[in-house]
Amino acid sequence: MLFLKSIVGAFLGLIALGLAAGPIAAQEYPSRNITLIVPFAAGGPTDVVARIVGEHMSRTLGRSVLIENTLGAGGTTASTRAMRAAPDGYTIIMGHMGTHAAAVALYPNLAYNPSTDFEPIGMASGTPVLILAKRDFPAKDMKEFVTYAKANEAKLNMAHAGIGSVSFTTCLLLNSLIGIKPTSIPFSGTGPAMNALVGGQVDFMCDQVVSVVPQVQAGTIKAYAVGTPERNPALPDVPTAKEAGLPEFKASAWNALFAPKGTPKPIIDKLNAALVAALDDPGVRKRLIDLGGEIPNREGRTPQALADLVKSEIAKWTPIIKAAGAVAN
Ligand code: MLT
Repeated sequence: MLFLKSIVGAFLGLIALGLAAGPIAAQEYPSRNITLIVPFAAGGPTDVVARIVGEHMSRTLGRSVLIENTLGAGGTTASTRAMRAAPDGYTIIMGHMGTHAAAVALYPNLAYNPSTDFEPIGMASGTPVLILAKRDFPAKDMKEFVTYAKANEAKLNMAHAGIGSVSFTTCLLLNSLIGIKPTSIPFSGTGPAMNALVGGQVDFMCDQVVSVVPQVQAGTIKAYAVGTPERNPALPDVPTAKEAGLPEFKASAWNALFAPKGTPKPIIDKLNAALVAALDDPGVRKRLIDLGGEIPNREGRTPQALADLVKSEIAKWTPIIKAAGAVAN
């Protein structure tokens, strides 16, 4: 009996320790480096935003935020890895409009539910999407692009970052508006896809502004239109899709931080505070704005605002993807 009592006592003690470990771990967080998963190749828009924001968050948190580029399946491989990581704040992900919205309609067997399998931390940047082509593409403006694309659909190559990516999804919208089915060339991110566009190996692409600005400014690629209601201050000469004659091309993406479901609230609060501090920093702001990024206002940076954004973006993109008949095998 005494033996049984001491076993039960030890067991209850362990439970008590376990319960206490949560708040203590959260209080001491972070006591080691944090892995920030980027679901695409280095040099692309998600990687660029993650490195700018992550570097400042490291300073606030007093620990390094280490970037891990996990590639494959349009960002869904990385998102699945993040969803399955321990919910302790040491593995988080820079998700985006593709991984945490469009993927739902594109992958019937998606391993995760963006709305319920993650704790939203906050939005890092809005990233308007542009219609781009290689430098010697034979169309000087959007109208000529449409005419040329319709007449030469069979020989057109479209670069993208895999089914589920922003580049795939927004060009899916473009192609269905124009009524073309070009050859699709997947890359592990729009970093390498952009290299192929600059090198002239592919014809056109839809990409987020943050990795486009230097190339457009240098004249190594053509930009026909931006999918936002207003022109982007970093590329004031590029017309909006409405101005360019394709008003239905409404395409703007976003990057945002997520943690695995069950990450304790005090840890989410610390990560959110570090994100907010990064977005208030004049150096971070300048870098993002110079690249055409849109910095969310205070209300747009909360976990709740991100939860709402994920829901509304799934609702926005699902019918567009279904109407285009796109689905991953
Ligand atoms: C990237 O970082 O390569 C992009 O965000 C990929 C995409 O979604 O198009």
